[in-house]
Amino acid sequence: ENLRDDKVSEETRKLITSLPTDKDSQGNLCKYQACWYYYNTFQAVINFQKHFQPQETDIVLATFPKSGTTWLKALTVALLERSKHDDPLNHPLLSNNPHAIVPLLESPTLDLTKFLPSSSTRLFSTHMPFHTVKEGLKGYPCKIVYMCRNAKDVLISLWHFRCKYQKIEVTKSVLESTFESFCRGGNFYGPIWDHVLSYWRGSLEDPSHVLFMKYEEMKEEPYAQLKRLAEFLGCPFTEEEEEESGAVNKILELCSLRSLSDLEINKSGKTVNGVDYKYFFRKGEVGDWKYHLTPEMVSKIDMIIEEKLRGSGLSF
Ligand code: A3P
Repeated sequence: ENLRDDKVSEETRKLITSLPTDKDSQGNLCKYQACWYYYNTFQAVINFQKHFQPQETDIVLATFPKSGTTWLKALTVALLERSKHDDPLNHPLLSNNPHAIVPLLESPTLDLTKFLPSSSTRLFSTHMPFHTVKEGLKGYPCKIVYMCRNAKDVLISLWHFRCKYQKIEVTKSVLESTFESFCRGGNFYGPIWDHVLSYWRGSLEDPSHVLFMKYEEMKEEPYAQLKRLAEFLGCPFTEEEEEESGAVNKILELCSLRSLSDLEINKSGKTVNGVDYKYFFRKGEVGDWKYHLTPEMVSKIDMIIEEKLRGSGLSF
């Protein structure tokens, strides 16, 4: 029995018979609300939509996998925690991986009953598309931050991650099969274009509750983008913080790929599902796809993106 198939109830199995289904090297997938999930994640999506108890002050960090989730989690944790830590060595990011601090709403191993409404701000993450998240938030005006990333860089990052995760060699043939399902849109959480567009439209409709960010902009102008995130979350930097204590730069430094990946916890720790934390840190560059994709692959992806995004006002 495939691990990605466990923890699925009879009721959910019945529901799956009414959905489009597919299979890849890692397990069975079904398409729900325009997005593909392995069965155990699908069960968790259903649990989230039915049982999650949202509260107004919740913050949800949303991404397509490999778009900078780890970075966005670290930055947000650092922003929200900054008043609490006089002792910089006591910071949660120094002893925990960002994925252990910010739970994924649709994780098959998350116990939703642990998250009872409380007086403090709760931070969650998700890879679900906007409409599916909205349903689980049940009308509560929570804040959602989305980070999008160039699709070709996401593909290259996925390819490397998949090889490490499956403990196989990083070969061209794995890239080709990843490319094929990525373009078809049949990969886990795909299609990426619909995913990005769902949040893009969400942010246009309700900019005070949905912030749309780009990995490339975060790399290009980290200082301005971090301030933008802080303002959106309602915890802007004061003049004093900015000028006297250099708080913006301190957070950027703490959350840089180099400092995070140098921490012992991120060198030797694992997620609850047994994935090495070090797999979440690779190059973190813009345009790495140029060294790996053939001109044919590039023109195929570019054509799909152009067609899917036409008229949306978005490019990514
Ligand atoms: P690359 O594989 O292109 O290097 P996710 O966190 O969504 O799983 O995405 C992983 C990607 O984000 C990887 O991209 C990884 O190197 C990059 N990344 C991880 N931590 C980062 C950080 N602190 N700053 C910038 N990029 C980071």
